[in-house]
Amino acid sequence: MKPKLVILFGGPRPEKNTDQALDLVLSGISIEKFDVTRFDLRKMKIHPCTGCYHCAESGRCVFRDDMDLILKAVNEADGVILATPFYFNSVSALTKTMIDRFQVKWTSKFMLKERSAEKSKKGLLLVTAGAIQKKNESDGARLVAELFFKSIRSTFDDFLFIEGTDSQPVSEQLERHSWLRETGERFSEGILAALV
Ligand SMILES: Cc1cc2nc3c(=O)[nH]c(=O)nc-3n(C[C@H](O)[C@H](O)[C@H](O)COP(=O)(O)O)c2cc1C
Repeated sequence: MKPKLVILFGGPRPEKNTDQALDLVLSGISIEKFDVTRFDLRKMKIHPCTGCYHCAESGRCVFRDDMDLILKAVNEADGVILATPFYFNSVSALTKTMIDRFQVKWTSKFMLKERSAEKSKKGLLLVTAGAIQKKNESDGARLVAELFFKSIRSTFDDFLFIEGTDSQPVSEQLERHSWLRETGERFSEGILAALV
């Protein structure tokens, strides 16, 4: 059986910077070696978490929507790629809405103390940002992803932050293309190596 790679694409704009950067990362991966599932969050129905904490009592979310598909796929994944544009120094709202629904994983692990049958996995975060950041603004997205990966029993293996897309879109940042491809290659080889 091939290892499972799940792609969570949290950009509202297809074929723009984040999607193009994701394509470059994927071009470094021998895709035929993986069972790939991609979720385009903009097309999915995901109710925002209401903080009802039903999950803390039952281990299940009250909402039945497209999150059921995502939770199942992520649960079975060997690797997860999270791709998002950088919005207000953080991940996009589409991405954050999905991440908040992973509270069900968090509560089962840390409140219900359920021993999860979930696989350990590898995680990669890809972000594109319009400006050249002045300080450590990218921490906003990194810290969100850190908790997300922790909740799904994933390591946080790579953080690709591509800035300056307002003045130079990803398609023109040619010097970064090989870095994106190589990181994709290394990330995927790490998944394969962890399984032998
Ligand atoms: C709502 C919104 C918020 C944004 N916030 C930031 C920001 O805080 N910092 C930044 O550098 N760029 C910001 N941007 C610019 C995007 O991060 C940038 O254009 C990104 O590459 C867009 O990805 P896309 O082309 O895949 O949509 C923002 C854009 C939007 C629409």
